[in-house]
Amino acid sequence: MTFPKHIKIVEVGPRDGLQNEAEIISTEDKVKLIEYLGESGLSVIEAGSFVSPKWVPQMADSANVFLDIFRRKGVTYTALTPNMKGLENAINAGVDEVAVFAAASESFSRKNINCSVEESIERFRPLCEEASARNIPVRGYVSCVLGCPYEGSVSPYAVRNVSKDLLDLGCYEISLGDTIGTGTPGNARILIDTVLDDVPLEKLAVHFHDTYGQALANIYAVLEQGVAVVDSSIGGLGGCPYASGAAGNVATEDVLYLLDGLGIETGISMDKILKASWFISGILGRPPASKVANALGDGSPLS
Ligand code: HMG
Ligand code: MG
Repeated sequence: MTFPKHIKIVEVGPRDGLQNEAEIISTEDKVKLIEYLGESGLSVIEAGSFVSPKWVPQMADSANVFLDIFRRKGVTYTALTPNMKGLENAINAGVDEVAVFAAASESFSRKNINCSVEESIERFRPLCEEASARNIPVRGYVSCVLGCPYEGSVSPYAVRNVSKDLLDLGCYEISLGDTIGTGTPGNARILIDTVLDDVPLEKLAVHFHDTYGQALANIYAVLEQGVAVVDSSIGGLGGCPYASGAAGNVATEDVLYLLDGLGIETGISMDKILKASWFISGILGRPPASKVANALGDGSPLS
């Protein structure tokens, strides 16, 4: 079995995690969380999103988060931007990178960003052109790659087509999101094989939510296919406000434990990740949804 030697973990907790919390987390605590995560050796942290505050009030302070965080050398601080207004606000806040987000299902696209899939691609076109003119890399997400909360099953060909559209817009990486976490290793593998017809392996990332407890198994399956970029969320936080019932992303601690066990390099310190996890769980008032965080405690000698 050959796995990639190095995996890049994209930490999405401060965005995908905190966008889904009923209670609004203070800017100060978000900044502290991002600082702990930055200390751990992570190279990419999705720190917020520049979306409509009416749609996702939890992210309304993203500009202040970006203005307040200490920028660690070697860490890319990124944010979601759904349209030109989002890009403008993100640039003013000093993002390093942005991400656009499309869907493989029409119904989810309408519920999440209030337009069709085709309209979303046209909306992203000027955004990608402007970002490129300013040397800001753009990542592309595709949601609902293994199932849609409104339509049920989703064809891997639909995912492939949207991925190709995002690639053609200039996205440097395509993150395939199992938004509702219904995927299993079998269909995850078929999906990767299908998307690989149009997207080179080195540009593919996976983004598994763990609603059905399949995320780690799915990651293991696609690592075997050579996928080398994995999104995860500290403490398994997360969900999507427009995909009700979707559980959090796979926990960063759990992915790290898996990769450490397989001897795959990440450059990330487990102790520091545990500190970040227990910090945010203290703010939220509940233990992390990560088996590893619960097994290992917060990394301090007394835990
Ligand atoms: P809309 O209502 O169609 O937008 O929403 P609009 O252009 O008609 O504007 C309506 C109002 O919103 C206007 O304000 C605009 O100025 C304002 P008003 O005149 O009413 O006062 N507005 C904005 N304000 C701040 N920032 C902006 C912005 N744009 C417009 N960027 C829109 C369309 C896309 C804006 C809205 O649907 C939206 O913000 N959606 C975001 C939903 C979201 O963030 N979902 C969660 C993230 S995706 C996800 O979690 C999946 C992922 O993790 C992968 C996976 O798991 O699959 C990525
Ligand atoms: Mg997500």
